[in-house]
Amino acid sequence: MHPLVTQLTIEEKVSLLSGASIWQTVSIDRLGITPLTMSDGPHGLRFQAATGDHLGINESEPATAFPTAAATGSSWDVELLVEIGNALGRESRAFGVHMLLGPGVNIKRSPLCGRNFEYFSEDPFLSGELGKAWVDGVQAQGVGASVKHFAANNQETERMRTSAQVDERTLREIYLPAFERIVTDARPATVMAAYNAINGVLSSENSWLLTSVLRDDWGFDGFVVSDWGAVRNPAAAIAGGTDLAMPDSSVHATEVLTALRAGVLSEGVIDEAVSRILMVRDRLGSEGVAEPVNSDAHHELAARAAVESAVLLSNKDRLLPLDSASGGAIAVIGEFARTPRYQGAGSSHVTPTQVDSAVDAIIAATTRDVAFAAGFRLDGVADQALLDEAVAAAASAETVILFLGLPDIDESEGFDRDHLGLPAQQLVLADKILDTAAHVVVVLSNGGVIDVSPFAHRADAILEMWLGGQASGTAAARMIFGVAEPAGRLAETIPLKLSDTPAFVNWPGTKDEVLYGERLYVGYRWYDTTEKAVAFPFGHGLGYADITVDEVDVVVSDPTVACAVVEATVSNLGSRAGAEVVQVYVRDLESSLDRPVRELKGFAKVRLEGGETRRVRIPLESRAFAFWRDGAWTVEPGQFEIEVGVSSRNIVGSREISLNVPAAIAALRPDSTLGEWMEHPSGPGLIDELFTKLHGTPLTREDEGLYRMAIEMPLNLVIGLGGTEGADAIVGELLQRVRSVNAQL
Ligand code: BGC
Repeated sequence: MHPLVTQLTIEEKVSLLSGASIWQTVSIDRLGITPLTMSDGPHGLRFQAATGDHLGINESEPATAFPTAAATGSSWDVELLVEIGNALGRESRAFGVHMLLGPGVNIKRSPLCGRNFEYFSEDPFLSGELGKAWVDGVQAQGVGASVKHFAANNQETERMRTSAQVDERTLREIYLPAFERIVTDARPATVMAAYNAINGVLSSENSWLLTSVLRDDWGFDGFVVSDWGAVRNPAAAIAGGTDLAMPDSSVHATEVLTALRAGVLSEGVIDEAVSRILMVRDRLGSEGVAEPVNSDAHHELAARAAVESAVLLSNKDRLLPLDSASGGAIAVIGEFARTPRYQGAGSSHVTPTQVDSAVDAIIAATTRDVAFAAGFRLDGVADQALLDEAVAAAASAETVILFLGLPDIDESEGFDRDHLGLPAQQLVLADKILDTAAHVVVVLSNGGVIDVSPFAHRADAILEMWLGGQASGTAAARMIFGVAEPAGRLAETIPLKLSDTPAFVNWPGTKDEVLYGERLYVGYRWYDTTEKAVAFPFGHGLGYADITVDEVDVVVSDPTVACAVVEATVSNLGSRAGAEVVQVYVRDLESSLDRPVRELKGFAKVRLEGGETRRVRIPLESRAFAFWRDGAWTVEPGQFEIEVGVSSRNIVGSREISLNVPAAIAALRPDSTLGEWMEHPSGPGLIDELFTKLHGTPLTREDEGLYRMAIEMPLNLVIGLGGTEGADAIVGELLQRVRSVNAQL
């Protein structure tokens, strides 16, 4: 318990449990308790000196707008995320901000989620690794992180009312691991409880989530802050494990005191919440002298990050990179080249320190003739003159660089998309340009994935830049002319059509609930298991260098322990430096439960100079093989296939390994089937004894059909079918005998 707790009056304690304002906690001067200041997050600082709001409407101080998480998720680059975190931490300190509200590590369950630009990936392992790196970076500067939105906040539709109906295995294997990785390995100062409910219980009141899982299972030692306005019943939220209700509230303290007096809430629970807040305050509260921020250096980091995050989806005949010194005229077409869309709308919206336009950067980067035509209006209104002008520019150019993307109105915090298409006027333009121009490079700006089929097969090259931050214009020019190589790989599958996506039939549910009917089969887990064709698979991305990955090997030093080291040789065959992301997928070949056909369990981004070769080693720990069953992580003995790939659909080598770990024994219950009895170590002997007693012979498989039917049935029914009375009592006695042999079975 924090020592100051005993010195606080009950009114003071309760006052500490909700905000003093939109961004600050309460101060108690007589005890020297100063307030904690918070700001959004996650890709830039939204520090509001004047009127605050949680929707990104009012002014905020200029800060670097780094690439959004949709972009940095595609970087697969943990070192880069640490660097960005460091920079965000430095900017936070410069404004006296103690806690930065990020990272967002919700899983991209459907490409329609309006807030997917704020999240890293459809894969929990990748999200966890990148989120941890971000938190490490921010917290290394003495600024606290707030991992959000805990949990299962995977859509904006009805985000404040809906309940995610999702089974525990799916939560543990898909929706919680990124949070778990960050909590256990990066010790974030706070976790933000989401607006939505899970299985009928609001996240902010959910003691299973906030206490059993977060604190008891994972050892979280920070405090839980509510999402802004997520607390409906202050006493229930405190009892459930939400320590700080944000923002300020006129009723919070009164309601908590009333609950205390009514005996609904104990003072001990309040003390614990206060203590957790004070402990974090001790960690973060030191004012210190902030170093001045070098905004130019941060802008350059943003440019580098945009390059690391950009995914070159296709590049026919290696059209890219273009020669900057020779060649015919270039037409840069598309309003986004002049008015970049580089961040999303809502609480993450920052005021950038500067913004680079791609057309300016392209003109500056080449001696070739460059013409610009806007081609379309951002408000989606058709404009024939703009279209004609763009087609004319395309007709007189050797190469067109066509900037397409989603406008602000199409994706944002607060609402979801209802289709994957680009605005109609952009598709009309793309069609005409592809009919007219000899060579077309499409450059995309969007947070969530879009339907690329209208132009994917006709464009020479497609460069997906996501919402790439304030320096994305410069980054685009560097990549187009080969000053830098696009080094991103898809952190989210690009599907062929919306109806192929895993949550399609359950999305977005009603105002009351949304069923996670696809369970574990999210993203490539779904497309690969159901063998669906996709536009571009998870993990895909091209570079300019000639890099190969081969000689895959897997070293298991002790097969009785679930761990292995995957090795592969990465070689740069050309003279140009470049990078590749080596991806390790695990497939369980002999599982007693259904499992996705492959799951990402390790990766390494490898940078090579021309001609360089390196052997990479990627460790796999027990969790890489485990699934969640009956309240625990289980690794079953048997065969696993370890695949190494450069996308989930481009596996370059694989090895089968055998793990002889001790088999987890499922406890027998009154309704256990005959088959489950036969698999249990004590089972077959007892069943033989029972059948001999009842039928004069042990259980036989003479009639295979009958046997297969019987093993699917609860044992008491099997016995009852034989006309035996008191089947339940017989099974009860057998269970006693099993338990007396080994209490934990
Ligand atoms: C968002 C959070 C954000 C908070 C404060 C909420 O609407 O969901 O992500 O941190 O506002 O702005």
